[in-house]
Amino acid sequence: MAKYEFTIGKELDLKKEQAATLSQPSLPANFILRAMFATFDIVYGAKRTLPKFMVLEMLARYPYWAWEDGGYKALSRLYAVCTRPCPNRTRELLHLIDLGRASQDNEQWHLLLLADIVHQNNIKLHWFHHVLIPTVLVFIYNILSRLIFWINPAWSFSMNAAFESHAEHQYMLMAQENPMWDSESVESDYFAYYPRQKSLGDLIRRISLDERDHMYHSLVELEKLR
Ligand SMILES: [Fe+2]
Ligand SMILES: [Fe+2]
Repeated sequence: MAKYEFTIGKELDLKKEQAATLSQPSLPANFILRAMFATFDIVYGAKRTLPKFMVLEMLARYPYWAWEDGGYKALSRLYAVCTRPCPNRTRELLHLIDLGRASQDNEQWHLLLLADIVHQNNIKLHWFHHVLIPTVLVFIYNILSRLIFWINPAWSFSMNAAFESHAEHQYMLMAQENPMWDSESVESDYFAYYPRQKSLGDLIRRISLDERDHMYHSLVELEKLR
């Protein structure tokens, strides 16, 4: 059995996967993440809600952007100094760039799907919580993500694994707290780009499993460096 069982593209019993997630603790978060999660709870409340998770998704893509951008820069540096073919390092960097790009796309679909559902349900978003605060958080998290990856990629992979582990658990807890979502059908134009789910509950569980896959990808990258 593989060490990390990726879930993407597999037909799974989503409720069984929910139980599996919630039977395990999330990965320990460092002080930066703990401060971020505490800020979220203070600003958006401790309750797990779709608008709160939209902001989480706005932030989620920045570490992957740092990996993609860092990979491109390293590739440019490599070919500025490498006069012979250097296939192994090239392959590693191409993988990092592809992973960064694909993960950003996946986080983007999470954000757009959640935003669509919030708008369909006429949930009002206040500019302070959904424009001003996210703008500040994105500005800080973008700089922090790039800085951490530049200083030490291993730290970036390990911190992102903990972020994704937290996200996986939070989504599964939100599905558990809202059993009525299992009988609520879900429709969105974005299902042209994302696996269609039969209920809002299953969509939330599927997003959670994407976050689990993101955690696994981060751990695989971390292990390559060790
Ligand atoms: Fe996400
Ligand atoms: Fe994620």
